[in-house]
Amino acid sequence: MTPRSRAIAVLDLEPAASDFLAEALAGLSSTPPALPSKFFYDERGSDLFQRICELPEYYLTRTETEILRQSGAEMAASVGENAELVGFGTGAGIKTRLLLQELDNPIAYVPVDISKQRLIDSATALQAAMPSLEVLPVCADYMQPLRLPTPSQKPDHVAVYFPGSTIGNLEPATAETFLERVGRLCGKSGGLIIGVDLQKAPEIIEAAYNDSSGVTAAFNLNLLVRANCELGADFELSCWRHRAIYNQQAGRIEMHLISDGEQRVHLAGREFRFAPGEKIVTEFSYKHTQAGFTALAARAGFRLSRTWTDPQQLFAVFHFVVAD
Ligand code: TRP
Repeated sequence: MTPRSRAIAVLDLEPAASDFLAEALAGLSSTPPALPSKFFYDERGSDLFQRICELPEYYLTRTETEILRQSGAEMAASVGENAELVGFGTGAGIKTRLLLQELDNPIAYVPVDISKQRLIDSATALQAAMPSLEVLPVCADYMQPLRLPTPSQKPDHVAVYFPGSTIGNLEPATAETFLERVGRLCGKSGGLIIGVDLQKAPEIIEAAYNDSSGVTAAFNLNLLVRANCELGADFELSCWRHRAIYNQQAGRIEMHLISDGEQRVHLAGREFRFAPGEKIVTEFSYKHTQAGFTALAARAGFRLSRTWTDPQQLFAVFHFVVAD
């Protein structure tokens, strides 16, 4: 088989609808009520998120991409030759491609994403652009322990690429445990390239998550659309408002769906009551300082190799290596 004719085969470990139901029930029963954010990314949610990434207010994607454009070659040199690159939640794959194209003889690329169609589309496009690269996509929730496919050629080392400041969607203690697992996954001489949104003026952050065109609101509300369509819930969509609030003390932006009035919602034979103004938490997005994040990664067993930022220091991309 010539590399050009390689078909994209996805290792399918997509979470089942029953996982969504169990997590939604647990979330709605907790105080404050919550819904699990990993279910944002069905096809519609992934399209909406793609539009968020292009919003003028959402500086994250634009800034991170610019850092990759400016410093991709330096990052690739820092990672080193003959690497297997594992990408977590790499979405459309634009940034990943900037990195991969600079890498010296990458052995394989293993994108892991929960959004199956987005994964297939981006892996197919990448394979067409880099026909000699072995691309092994995995549809899975990478927050769960994973066994990844083995490339046909043995790499010298594994580098995990985790862009988009998705690490910020984890509580710091959970982020630490997650990074420990990443360290074990990439093993000795392994590395981590990770994009992290930095702390800054709250107005800039709040604008990024409360855009004027309402795309972010539609994205957040899509969780309720999914709960209605896939789980048979009866959320009255017109009675919920999106609002993101920066909690300066905790250093995180908090995504909420706010109840417009007194209402009752039914899901799997259970009833949930909401008072006017009551909030469902859908996601937190922590903003870190460079020193704070370096310390968090160090507790997970990573030593800082290099950092790249934009001139305004809105966003940082770190290269860590597994500490001896
Ligand atoms: N991982 C993204 C972030 O923290 C997710 C996100 C962007 C998001 N906008 C949102 C989540 C609005 C909920 C609501 O930046």
